[in-house]
Amino acid sequence: MARLAVTETFFGIQFPGHLHTQDSLQAATNFPFRPSDVLLVTYPKSGTTWMQEILTFIHSEGDPEPAKTTPNWARLPWLEHLYNGTLAETPEPRLLTTHLPYPALAEALAKAKPKVIYLARNPKDVAVSYYHFCQMANFFPDPGSFEEFVQKFLDGTVHYGSWFEHVKGWLSCQEESNISYFTYEELHQDLEGCVERLCAFLGISVKPELAEAVRTHCSFASMRENAMVNTTLIPKEILDPSKGQFMRKGIAGDWKNHFSAPLSDRFNTKFQEELGSQGQRFRWAMD
Ligand code: A3P
Repeated sequence: MARLAVTETFFGIQFPGHLHTQDSLQAATNFPFRPSDVLLVTYPKSGTTWMQEILTFIHSEGDPEPAKTTPNWARLPWLEHLYNGTLAETPEPRLLTTHLPYPALAEALAKAKPKVIYLARNPKDVAVSYYHFCQMANFFPDPGSFEEFVQKFLDGTVHYGSWFEHVKGWLSCQEESNISYFTYEELHQDLEGCVERLCAFLGISVKPELAEAVRTHCSFASMRENAMVNTTLIPKEILDPSKGQFMRKGIAGDWKNHFSAPLSDRFNTKFQEELGSQGQRFRWAMD
């Protein structure tokens, strides 16, 4: 399969060449947003697919048809991917996804002020999920040992760059952007409350059947069986199911099963250095 071993460097960040070219990355930075667009922004492994599924149901007003018949990458295409189709022809409101850092999109966003949903996750759980994903995804470099991978994660030298820079960048644009923040942990703790908040942000009224549909179809168990999101449609040369599962555990706090005490301390020191008091806005457990 194409370009599995290629890496593209853009904005000082490494991207898998299997999914991106310089042209596709450049096109994303110049993307002609519309005010009606809804852009989901995440750092990898933060629950992107879960939020894509929830937004699909909000968009379809609870109708399961799109989620059961169309792959997630076609429902909420990636701005920066090679394979994002003809977004100009997609009816409004367009649902879009990106992993790009804020500085790469700032100019394009400022022109149209689309609605931006930023989803963050406890970075220790992101690192765990990312480590396992790198083992099965043949378009990422070998992650090495877990400790080696976490060090690269802390140094910001993994693909898609520094988690800290990503979060700080997207937190910094609160004033000038039409942005709403969510966490993976909040989705776990209060899915219904998150759906209400999402609907309020998107200007959509919540019907009782929507909450019920999201509860049923966006659960981990249900999504794990849905071929439109569980990556079983992707050839095994690209995502190797013998080396792991995309829908792996779907829990908060799995980092406790992977981090040694010294590694956890090193991580917390970096978290504090990078985010300082901003880190307190996230209700996730770093200890
Ligand atoms: P784990 O590897 O910790 O299980 P992304 O979509 O950004 O790549 O994130 C993938 C992570 O989100 C994986 O985490 C995956 O299991 C989890 N996930 C996907 N759907 C979920 C759901 N419905 N409920 C909980 N976690 C979910």
